[in-house]
Amino acid sequence: MTSPLANLDLDRWANLGKSWSIRPDTTYLNHGSFGPPPAPVREARLKWIRELDSQPMDFFVRKFEPAWRAARNTLAQFISAPADSLIFVENATAGMNVVADSLELHPGDEVLLTDHEYGAVVRIWERACQRVGARTATCRLPLPFTTVEETVDSLFSQVTHSTRLIVVSHITSPTAVILPVAEICRRARERGIAVCIDGPHAPAQIPLAVAGLGCDFYAASCHKWLSAPFGSGFLYVAKEHQPRIRPPVLSWGRLPPLPIESWSDEFCWSGTRDSSPYLSIPSAIQFLQQVGLGFFQTGAHALAQYARQQLVELTQLQPIVPDSPAWYGSMAHVPLPPGDRAKLQDALWQQHHIEVPIVEWNGHRYIRVSCHLYNTPEQIDGLVRALGQSLQAEGDT
Ligand SMILES: Cc1ncc(COP(=O)(O)O)c(C=O)c1O
Repeated sequence: MTSPLANLDLDRWANLGKSWSIRPDTTYLNHGSFGPPPAPVREARLKWIRELDSQPMDFFVRKFEPAWRAARNTLAQFISAPADSLIFVENATAGMNVVADSLELHPGDEVLLTDHEYGAVVRIWERACQRVGARTATCRLPLPFTTVEETVDSLFSQVTHSTRLIVVSHITSPTAVILPVAEICRRARERGIAVCIDGPHAPAQIPLAVAGLGCDFYAASCHKWLSAPFGSGFLYVAKEHQPRIRPPVLSWGRLPPLPIESWSDEFCWSGTRDSSPYLSIPSAIQFLQQVGLGFFQTGAHALAQYARQQLVELTQLQPIVPDSPAWYGSMAHVPLPPGDRAKLQDALWQQHHIEVPIVEWNGHRYIRVSCHLYNTPEQIDGLVRALGQSLQAEGDT
């Protein structure tokens, strides 16, 4: 079998990885949870902070709004969405809350989620439903994943006449699966059901064209695979919903005397704050475009595939998705034998200085390995050795 890494220019990969300053005592394999920025992005952020701190009036009154609009235009182009349907939020969580706070639900309405959704997102929709006497429903998607049709059919078999909204991850958190969101949106539209996509793992990990998906809402963080500063994300709202989606924190919208002229203007000025994470998003986009988005995505997938192969060889347990870039991107996800999730994650950190999430999901234990430009095949080899030792030690106790 040829190695997944056969076509990857590992020298170039390793060189690009030097833009990150991961602590030398750490093997960091969790970009998917918290993705640190490379040097040019850190510098861009510091430049904005210096501008603000050295002349706040000049920054807030004259420079902020044009910079906000320019950053949003760059992001809009990157994710293929109209700029005036896009607002910055601190993270995907904030974006999801904007939707949940504004969307009108009625007693008896149903919000349908899958069993792969992020726990905090489930809480957001449970609260929104409880407030009005609506309810959430969870669809257990069939495992292993085989075809788009089977997955989407299974989700729609749970749709009832009360279903108002489907909330679905683009790439799932506990299982790292790329879900067929375009097909879900297409089928939902036929039935008049809105779709809110929880997408923080998608920007930069996979090709993304938000408006083309046909979704109603798309919430994402830019501090994962795009490697923008922590505290940067966006929310896309389709035109037809904009009149009803309002800022939970009401402020000027635009600093007076500038008039509110469009939906998104209400979200521009949300009170005095440090917006350097938003304004640095273009530098993160530029960094990855200079790397080559294709080079990054195929390389990170190749490394994840390499990790998956090594881990399967160790555990002899089969992953829940086919070995294809259609189903997973730069996160390898492999089942582990039963055991204590937290203890294993802790042992990998305490004994081997490896930061990697061990996930308990639907009664089974998994490992999720994130691969970014600063990760190497040697780190994956080290992980597999360390995991082998830790699993062996579990068996011995
Ligand atoms: C699928 C998914 N949704 C939402 C979130 C929340 O992201 P954030 O903490 O950036 O708001 C995460 C975080 O890992 C996630 O994986």
